[in-house]
Amino acid sequence: DGLAVVVVAAGSGTRLGYGLPKALVPLAGEPLLAHALRTVREALPAAAVLVTVPAADTELTALARRMGARAVTGGASRAQSVARALAALPASTEHVLVHDAARCLTPPAVFARVLAALREGARAVVPVTPVTDTIRRADAEGRSTGTVDRSVLRGVQTPQGFDAALLRRVNRAAGLLPHESAGADDAALSASAGDTAATGGTGAAGSSASASGTDPEGITDDASLVEHHAPEHPVRFVDGDEESFKVTRPLDLVLARAVVDSRAG
Ligand code: C5P
Repeated sequence: DGLAVVVVAAGSGTRLGYGLPKALVPLAGEPLLAHALRTVREALPAAAVLVTVPAADTELTALARRMGARAVTGGASRAQSVARALAALPASTEHVLVHDAARCLTPPAVFARVLAALREGARAVVPVTPVTDTIRRADAEGRSTGTVDRSVLRGVQTPQGFDAALLRRVNRAAGLLPHESAGADDAALSASAGDTAATGGTGAAGSSASASGTDPEGITDDASLVEHHAPEHPVRFVDGDEESFKVTRPLDLVLARAVVDSRAG
């Protein structure tokens, strides 16, 4: 029904200390990607699912296909992997969710909240959690320059949800997707109600970014790309979940095992 989920799984996983792609690291006897795809399938049974896999991979590709997903060769960065998946989306895609395979235990309720916000009309949605650590700033020498008010901060998770035309448009503006098919999406977006800032606002940001083909520092996710290249579309928050943490370091695997055990028992 016009919904696609991109599961990014083309990372190397070097911080986990296994000699294999992170998405293949075993958790309770199965690769992380198998857990991730099962949670996506349970939450959104009707969605088209695309998985970005490392170049020359065969194992994740086979796993994705076994679980009813399409495999797309990823790029050198997460953003490039997402762009390649966007280029491969079914033409009928209206909403797209971008999800980290490394967040392999995300509860179905988080997917449901993101999708509900999109269906209410939000064009970019991110699940967030409160920040619990006290956060300090440091200067270049590593000296403390003060404490940040954490009540104004949020931790950002995935799945992040988007109007598919908007996400393609900001990927083109960032130089991550070619410009050829620009016409249709851009016309559709600027023709929509309340979108008067679209042409001027994104035109300027788009041309400067695509000229260099690079993104400004600090853009590490898809919603930030929308904020930068399409500021007329505010990013909507929904509640994330502690169990949607990203498996990054060895301790995260210990926690993930405990979560799997607690769900089984
Ligand atoms: O490295 P990090 O944990 O931030 O990666 C987040 C997600 O992006 C992971 O699921 C990883 O597999 C994916 N990724 C990707 N292509 C890359 C780098 C990361 O799909 N080139």
